Amino acid sequence: MTELNNTLDSSQLSLPKYRKNILLVGTPGTGKTSLAKRLTEVTSLEHVEVGKFAEEHSCLGSYDEQLECFEIEEEKLIPILIDFLKPGGYLLEYHGCEWFASCKIDLVIVLQTETAPLYDRLKARGYSGRKLEENMECEIMQVILDEAYCCFNEKQIWVVPSNKEQDLEETVERVQKFLESSN
Ligand SMILES: Nc1ncnc2c1ncn2[C@@H]1O[C@H](COP(=O)(O)OP(=O)(O)OP(=O)(O)O)[C@@H](O)[C@H]1O
Ligand SMILES: [Mg+2]
Repeated sequence: MTELNNTLDSSQLSLPKYRKNILLVGTPGTGKTSLAKRLTEVTSLEHVEVGKFAEEHSCLGSYDEQLECFEIEEEKLIPILIDFLKPGGYLLEYHGCEWFASCKIDLVIVLQTETAPLYDRLKARGYSGRKLEENMECEIMQVILDEAYCCFNEKQIWVVPSNKEQDLEETVERVQKFLESSN
């Protein structure tokens, strides 16, 4: 026993750090990527866009003409995500939260944007017609927030405004404190 103690230094004896996963959700255009980019500059979190992740892991289905995007084969994707997220340290970006209910998620950040700035952002992207209307409706009806409350404990959920630059900076500071406080 004495011999064993002598061969271990203090870093080997310390417990491994608990690495958290954060899920960033919100209607398209609410600022998930913008926030994720800032967070990866100031934290060690690794940004994962779940749409791209699904593509890289061959989980894309057929093209949805109405939504103008590929469907994602969730039955295939969810088990891959569950495994992938086990070590922690990831900042996931996706519109909704349903698929993550069985994953290791420590915090869900729901970004919300007021109607006028969101409309301008989506118009600037070239959204129009049904696509624009559906996204605006999604935000006004708080669809993503309802989904978050269905899938996660409310203590895990932050509802965060994302209208102006200052909102983004405040959220970055809040996340930094959250990561520091619980390590
Ligand atoms: N806090 C903010 N204040 C002002 N503008 C913002 C803010 N956050 C994001 N934006 C702007 O809104 C637009 C959309 O942002 P972003 O691409 O980050 O949204 P997103 O939620 O990732 O969209 P998607 O769901 O399509 O991936 C960008 O032009 C970005 O500069
Ligand atoms: Mg994005």
